Amino acid sequence: MSLRGVKIVGVGHYAPARVVTNHDLEAWLDTTDEWITTRTGMKRRHWTSDNEATSDLASAAAEAALVHAGLQAADVDCFIVATVTPDYYFPATACLVATRLGAREKPAFDIAIACSGFIYGLTIASGLIRSGVYRRVMLIGAESLSKILDKEDRSTAILFGDGAGAVILERSEEDSFLACDLGADGSRPELLYAHGSGSREPLDHAALDAKLHLIHMQGRETFKLAVNKMVESTGSVLSKANLNKADIAFLIPHQANKRIIDATARYLGLPEDKVVINIAEYGNTSAASIPMALSETVRAGRVKPGDLIVFVAFGGGLSWGAVAWRWAQ
Ligand code: ACO
Repeated sequence: MSLRGVKIVGVGHYAPARVVTNHDLEAWLDTTDEWITTRTGMKRRHWTSDNEATSDLASAAAEAALVHAGLQAADVDCFIVATVTPDYYFPATACLVATRLGAREKPAFDIAIACSGFIYGLTIASGLIRSGVYRRVMLIGAESLSKILDKEDRSTAILFGDGAGAVILERSEEDSFLACDLGADGSRPELLYAHGSGSREPLDHAALDAKLHLIHMQGRETFKLAVNKMVESTGSVLSKANLNKADIAFLIPHQANKRIIDATARYLGLPEDKVVINIAEYGNTSAASIPMALSETVRAGRVKPGDLIVFVAFGGGLSWGAVAWRWAQ
């Protein structure tokens, strides 16, 4: 029999040990715990130490997913890391992670589409499996955003955290992948960017002084677009899958701001218990936020076979997307 479905057989997540609370931020920024809590829903975030990088977080999350699935790294055919904070410009972080896990010589590559990274990655990984190219794929969303934060800018320094979430996808008779809706718009790069050492403005002393390598964001405008696109994308993915909002067991949105998530849930008419929110603990971890939230929810025993999960994100690019996923196992 030819199997052309895909399912998730293991999940894992990891956050670095260093915790930075809102009160900690008050020590050097003109901000308050009250402002951050009411405007974002964030209370804490985890930041890497000087000697930790994205591949360390990604490897820890992947190891947890392997244990959860009862598999070895050698059982996995391909490794994908979604990140905009790779260890290096190249080699790809996925190469470092696969080798660290003991899977040298397996295919490994990164995808860089900011907060939508897990949604794009889930679509790519599912496609590789459903088309028969690979049997098992490890997909990891991992970020060390604290390394590209302007710690003196109160409008961004408070928002971002570090972490990683991993899923192992496997060929299956059942098919969890019901539909996707992906989009991108490069016409407004000024809304959200970190130029790093790109070819448009190679990192020189002037770029460093202007802090072009760090995250810049026009928060209010991004906020409005995020709500619109997450509502639109959720509606679109449900309609592609011939499903309704009432069918959703869990909405697992990118954790950018609790007010964005609450507004999205309100427009969709979803009750609180169907919306997964862990932003108070981790802040915005970009491509890591959805797989971290999924891993926590699955490991807490909340997800049952047959549950419809909608993953949805909006972020830098601009980019957005949703995947409708029927939980199997
Ligand atoms: N503490 C205290 N005051 C602050 C802080 C702070 N940390 N940050 C900003 N302020 C001030 C501003 O200076 C401003 O003061 P002013 O009125 O005197 O000028 C006031 O608070 C209001 O600022 P806004 O930016 O309008 O505040 P807003 O309510 O929009 O909240 C926030 C800001 C939290 C950034 C919000 O806009 C947001 O979450 N935006 C979207 C983030 C997002 O979706 N990102 C996409 C994904 S991220 C990715 O892809 C990498």
